[in-house]
Amino acid sequence: MCGIFGYVNYLVEKTRGDISDTLIEGLQRLEYRGYDSAGIAIDGDKADETLIFKQIGKVGALKKEVESQNLDRTATFVNHAGIAHTRWATHGEPKTVNCHPHRSDINNEFVIVHNGIITNYRELKTLLKQKGYTFESDTDTECIAKLFKHIYDTNIKNGNEPDFNELMKQVLYEIDGSYGLLVKSSHYPNEVVATRKGSPLLVGVKTEKKLKVDFVDVEFPDELPNNEAPINGNTHQNGGLLPVAQGDSGLRHSQSRAFLSEDGIPQPAEFFLSSDPASVIQHTKKVLFLEDDDIAHIYDGELHIHRATREAGISATRSIQTLEMELAQIMKGPFSHFMQKEIYEQPESTFNTMRGRIDFDNHIVKLGGLQKWLTTIRRCRRIIMIACGTSYHSCLATRSIFEELTEIPVSVELASDFLDRRSPVFRDDTCIFVSQSGETADSMLALQYCLERDALTVGVVNSVGSSISRATHCGVHINAGPEIGVASTKAYTSQYIALVMIALSLSDDRVSKINRRHEIIDGLKQIPEQIKTVLTLESKIKDLCTSELAQQKSLLLLGRGYQFASALEGALKIKEISYMHSEGVLAGELKHGVLALVDDQLPIIAFATRDSLFPKVMSSIEQVTARSGRPIIIHNTDDKSINTDKALATLEVPLSVDCLQGLLNVIPLQLISYWLAVNRGIDVDFPRNLAKSVTVE
Ligand code: UD1
Ligand code: F6R
Repeated sequence: MCGIFGYVNYLVEKTRGDISDTLIEGLQRLEYRGYDSAGIAIDGDKADETLIFKQIGKVGALKKEVESQNLDRTATFVNHAGIAHTRWATHGEPKTVNCHPHRSDINNEFVIVHNGIITNYRELKTLLKQKGYTFESDTDTECIAKLFKHIYDTNIKNGNEPDFNELMKQVLYEIDGSYGLLVKSSHYPNEVVATRKGSPLLVGVKTEKKLKVDFVDVEFPDELPNNEAPINGNTHQNGGLLPVAQGDSGLRHSQSRAFLSEDGIPQPAEFFLSSDPASVIQHTKKVLFLEDDDIAHIYDGELHIHRATREAGISATRSIQTLEMELAQIMKGPFSHFMQKEIYEQPESTFNTMRGRIDFDNHIVKLGGLQKWLTTIRRCRRIIMIACGTSYHSCLATRSIFEELTEIPVSVELASDFLDRRSPVFRDDTCIFVSQSGETADSMLALQYCLERDALTVGVVNSVGSSISRATHCGVHINAGPEIGVASTKAYTSQYIALVMIALSLSDDRVSKINRRHEIIDGLKQIPEQIKTVLTLESKIKDLCTSELAQQKSLLLLGRGYQFASALEGALKIKEISYMHSEGVLAGELKHGVLALVDDQLPIIAFATRDSLFPKVMSSIEQVTARSGRPIIIHNTDDKSINTDKALATLEVPLSVDCLQGLLNVIPLQLISYWLAVNRGIDVDFPRNLAKSVTVE
């Protein structure tokens, strides 16, 4: 839910101003994840002094707070470690004391930023209070900071001065829950330890010279003999608890091979720790994604990865990857908001979802990530699609074409409800997880649940390297590019296409489906251009939102068959961005109760595009107009059968194949929600109470 960012410079001279700007800019790029408060921790002028600055509101407010302090911005640091955080309140309301970083004591001996939830924090808090610790905040995080100090002091009392990563291991034994965690301490100047469990965390690496190898060795405890003395004049303060051993080459075993120089002289290096690649990309494209339970220890210009135990199946290296994402991709460009930019990106993003995967001339769909698994999936007993929010709607939108093409029963589940019911799952089930972020806690928990039951799991995910993408057996990246606006738009259309492509791949051995498959593949080819046409409706929609819809308090969306998902998705967009009450209604259900709401005031948007259910939708529209309702009708271009006299407005969209029409029909709704919100003065990219990545249950 929150965002964490850290910056470590080693043998690279930076002023305090540079360092705090880097931290604050890093937070600004994370702001879309959570944004009710923010904070940073940096070094002070005196040795061992750590300064913490916190502010409620957006990161801009923190920037002002830091600037208002009379700090010497020109003070230089050749080595330094700083950490930072943006918070979206889960434990404790948004107020300054609840902002991160949290500290162990008034001297700031240990300072911590945390993303996630510590489930046993109450027990820990009680215990630590008994030991004399005074808590300043209502958060679960603060107990970790206190625990660090408590365990550190206990070690010192027993004559040990633990290495920072060893201390982290001892703390992790005590805490339960999910976390992305960065820790800085005056006892370990210029060092950071970081870890993750169920929460994303990566380390960006910037060095002048090329890295020796593009991986980092994982250090397991049994590889470090306990009785060898430190060598190479290593004065690192592990106090002999975890001495580094000498290998045949004369090199320290625990020296990170990637950071070795020819001559053994330490190399200047900078490290950027973050919960999201979007905040690292401007500094470096070289990143290492941490695995759950990895402990990253950064000191002396090196990155070390430790693990508390050696479990079966854990890789002994972590690769340093090159991120393909361009900075320009995460900037707004000429648009006022990320949401608007992302709506306009859809001709391109939908094309990118299909790029290299559909041979339109020969009507062949090939999904690299699924090829090996198709036979297994075809044999499964049923398909369960599991997701939340907009991603759930893309499953609803494609369920019917899945069933038609594959002839396998498909159920669609909201992840939280699926888990609440402890729904039965079997080893011959295929469970498809659809998620833009790939980090949504409910979907991730449902995925764990299905993995435990040996079902085959398939991801349909936008964020490469995300938890869902990595934990599923196989899957498809939707390749829509980074989605930053909190309201999901381009991810929806790309998920929709990816799911249709999966259904097409699964049915490519069925002769009886050839014509239908060809029709759909031809339809897909036209989608990007057709989206461009729909986008030309913007000025008409803008007018509608400043006139007829401007003062409305509520809105109904009517859809049936394929368009029920469009109605639900349209209603969700309007709710979350414009705060206007809106409801998607299955047109067939109108007469079973909802009709009571209809009068000449309530705006109703009806999807009346051509498919087999068109006559039924028209009869629902008549039921509405017969009660003086004046619907806004979304219909196909030049459809003469639409009675425009009784409509408040009509919006024309190009005709597509029935199962793809929803890709076009949803776009006017994205634009309506956008303009309703802008007209109401709402910051579209930061709707109240919502965060982009929902990493709590
Ligand atoms: C892959 C490459 C792409 C390259 C193409 C060329 C990646 C991420 N993609 O794309 O850059 O141009 O080959 O052949 O390197 N997966 C999951 N769960 C998910 C999503 C994906 O397990 O939720 C797995 C897939 O099964 C596959 C891998 O991740 O093994 C990459 O998936 P995807 O990007 O969809 O594969 P390609 O389209 O083949
Ligand atoms: C709506 C929206 C949310 C997400 C939901 C799932 O615009 O963005 O409803 O769709 O939180 O998120 P992902 O797809 O990241 O799993």
